[in-house]
Amino acid sequence: MEPAAGAAMFVNPLTALGFVETMRTERFRGIVHLAAASNLGQMLNRICVADDIPLINVVRSGEQAELLTNQGARYVLDSSSPDYEEKLRSALYETKITLAFDPIGGGFQASQVLAAMEAAASRDVSAYNRYGTEVFKQLYIYGMLNPSPTVLDRWVGFAWSVGGWLLTHRLKQMGKEGEARLLDRVRSELTTTFASHYTARLGLPEILHPDNIRSYSRKATGAKYLVTP
Ligand SMILES: NC(=O)c1ccc[n+]([C@@H]2O[C@H](COP(=O)([O-])OP(=O)(O)OC[C@H]3O[C@@H](n4cnc5c(N)ncnc54)[C@H](OP(=O)(O)O)[C@@H]3O)[C@@H](O)[C@H]2O)c1
Repeated sequence: MEPAAGAAMFVNPLTALGFVETMRTERFRGIVHLAAASNLGQMLNRICVADDIPLINVVRSGEQAELLTNQGARYVLDSSSPDYEEKLRSALYETKITLAFDPIGGGFQASQVLAAMEAAASRDVSAYNRYGTEVFKQLYIYGMLNPSPTVLDRWVGFAWSVGGWLLTHRLKQMGKEGEARLLDRVRSELTTTFASHYTARLGLPEILHPDNIRSYSRKATGAKYLVTP
């Protein structure tokens, strides 16, 4: 195995596994993931396919949807399509998922997900309640792909929470044993579930080239660079 196979074996693999740990410890039944065609999102999808965990992947283009569908994803929704919200409500009604992870942060997508969860939860309710359902909905923001303010509209009832999620905090909570357990899995699936693919290899001087800075700063799908000092 090439040493490069281990170059990205910590942050994204442990974060994807960490989401599943959070889902289990906080007793949720599945995950909604935004910007799901990311490097991390593809790992999470592979984990969920292998472990039979319900996962709703939200992406922002047809190409990204195809990428995840070709990797065995069951639910892939394209937020740029006109029927996105309707499809989201249907998928949430079907799966009863009430946990979401959001690396976008800014804008209204988090709010859309919470509102769709509430709409799905209230679909079978027979009596109107002005305070909404009692179904608890949790959304964790774990990135800042969109640095603008997070907009939350209030069509989500009162049983919800939005919080931050950071790998280092969660690893501390998990303790050494928990971290070792996750790393064992990463090691044994390093070239499959947790494989990363690189657009290009850059030496140290090349990292500083303006064209390269522009490219790797974009945080685009499938555009990771391997630094070879
Ligand atoms: N909290 C933690 O502990 C933790 C740990 C690991 C990673 N992270 C965060 O997780 C995120 C994903 O990391 P990664 O390495 O997997 O990313 P990545 O492979 O670079 O992919 C980023 C993805 O986000 C999409 N994207 C970029 N800007 C967006 C926007 N404004 N709205 C919607 N989608 C957008 C891109 O789609 P396009 O191609 O369409 O641009 C791409 O699919 C990053 O934000 C990273 O900081 C956080």
